[in-house]
Amino acid sequence: MADRAQTVELVRSRYAAAAVAVTSDSGGQAGCCGSGSAGGAADALEVDESFGAGLYDPADTDVLPEAAVLASLGCGNPTAVADLRPGERVLDLGSGGGIDVLLSARRVGPTGFAHGVDMTAEMLDLARVNAARAGATNVEFLEGRIEAVPLPDAAVDVVISNCVVNLSTDKPAVLAEMFRVLAPGGRLGVSDVVAEDTVTPEERTERGSYVGCIAGALSRTEYVDGLAAAGFTDASVEFTHEVAPGMHGAIIRAAKPTTAAAAGTALRAAGTRPEQPAAAAGCCDTAELDSCCAPGAKPSCCGAPADTAADATESVSAAPATCGCR
Ligand SMILES: C[S@@+](CC[C@H](N)C(=O)[O-])C[C@H]1O[C@@H](n2cnc3c(N)ncnc32)[C@H](O)[C@@H]1O
Repeated sequence: MADRAQTVELVRSRYAAAAVAVTSDSGGQAGCCGSGSAGGAADALEVDESFGAGLYDPADTDVLPEAAVLASLGCGNPTAVADLRPGERVLDLGSGGGIDVLLSARRVGPTGFAHGVDMTAEMLDLARVNAARAGATNVEFLEGRIEAVPLPDAAVDVVISNCVVNLSTDKPAVLAEMFRVLAPGGRLGVSDVVAEDTVTPEERTERGSYVGCIAGALSRTEYVDGLAAAGFTDASVEFTHEVAPGMHGAIIRAAKPTTAAAAGTALRAAGTRPEQPAAAAGCCDTAELDSCCAPGAKPSCCGAPADTAADATESVSAAPATCGCR
């Protein structure tokens, strides 16, 4: 795979072009590879009906600004998956043109709040315009990387994401950040492309591009193991539709335990941290458990140099197995 920084820049520039395609007069032609059949970001990226607004109930999308719908590049509807309730705080990782943040904001109502995080300035501009057009006041769009989310610990009740984790060059860091920003008892409802376990990383690369959400996909077992290593319980991956041979749009669910002790139990069950007496493992009895203790969290949380972080498809169980940042 290309150098990580190059891959990130490739992803950023392609999604910047997709955002510009939505807002430009050329109706989809402004992207670097727009086919122009229907206009919008999907054409700019040459993605098909396995992705985008067609995966939503029209009753949901009909009430949104057209540009938010046109910019939809996801592989599912995570707002439906997450079963959002009034008053909840939601975070959408890789929020793009804002479709899932706006749908979340409607579901959680005025007593709830929906944050979006995206690294692409053009997408953030588009999302903010869409939020203003929709009259949404319980939303914000933050510039940032999903590997280092610009929100404090335990800031949200639900993390959603739509076809973005596969684009990350540091998936263990993303899963650790999901865990960190969730309040105890919080949950994850994610749509993503996931490979069958028999499809090797090399075969995933042959079946589609990295920016097209195929080559960087985790397998089902890599996803479930990665979530467990980050501290999540009840992780599941459900295939919904095939997007390439052996590769599927999928719904990923998981929960953050309600207590630090339960999180430690989950990590031990995942085999990522040795059983330790409570006294000896003092760091694991504090809030540090929620932020830095998960082995998969160490590269992002404890400041390990970027070039020592795990590879895109590397197992998080290879991370150190000590507590906190020690
Ligand atoms: C496939 S699009 C999906 C957008 C949106 N979730 C949707 O369903 O329409 C991927 C989005 O994730 C953003 N993105 C990709 N990698 C990212 C990263 N590492 N950190 C933050 N944003 C990222 C891109 O800028 C783009 O807006």
